[in-house]
Amino acid sequence: MESGMVRPLIAGNWKMNGLSSACETIAEVAKGLEQYSDAADCLICPPATLLSKVTETAKGSRLKTGAQDCHSAASGAHTGDVSAEMIADLGASYVIIGHSERRADHGETSEIVAAKTEAAFRAGLTPIICIGETLEEREAGRTIEVVSEQLAGSIPASAFGKAFVVAYEPVWAIGTGKVASTGQVGEVHDKVREILGERFPGQADQTPILYGGSMKPDNAAELLAVENVDGGLIGGASLKAEDFLAIYAACVSAK
Ligand code: PGA
Repeated sequence: MESGMVRPLIAGNWKMNGLSSACETIAEVAKGLEQYSDAADCLICPPATLLSKVTETAKGSRLKTGAQDCHSAASGAHTGDVSAEMIADLGASYVIIGHSERRADHGETSEIVAAKTEAAFRAGLTPIICIGETLEEREAGRTIEVVSEQLAGSIPASAFGKAFVVAYEPVWAIGTGKVASTGQVGEVHDKVREILGERFPGQADQTPILYGGSMKPDNAAELLAVENVDGGLIGGASLKAEDFLAIYAACVSAK
């Protein structure tokens, strides 16, 4: 951490998990947050089907809610898609954009990610823009090149002066139990901060840079202590209130 004025963020990405009964987990997290300092933001992004109910359940608590994707258009003939305006209309405040599972499974390029990021700004949502290299790219020594390219292409110029979040998620560490070393994480996060500083002068110190990829209660403290790591994007461990709260606790004590 220790990156100036950044307000840390612990964000849960439920992916395609959760039926209506999962709202009990939301209530547990919302209540559980009361026992910790509010020095960090806490967010859960459930599947779109639950966003309305989850947002209603979290109302009045410190837990924020968001979506996992949005379309770039505000409305129109896009069967099955959800717009940023629809997400904001439910009272949610964030949207994850360009997760590697969407880049891989739905062919989302950085250009598409930038258009969706514009949509998030248009609707008043805070986008969490995801970047990260594959194992093949890392082994070829291309990590910094890949994340720099993704960063340049995925964040539109209109982000200047707006609140947004960057999540570094090495693809090989997502859902695999393989965690990037603190050295690997630190190297990329330093670079991301440097690039943001060059592109958005005066703003880089306020942009949270999250690490994601197999973050769990037992490794969170170590990862969150790395300089320029301002929180986490958590998949598997966000599905259990106890685990997710333990990561939040690690974050506020790393502050
Ligand atoms: P994981 O997922 O914590 O299950 O590795 C992280 C993510 O994909 O956001």
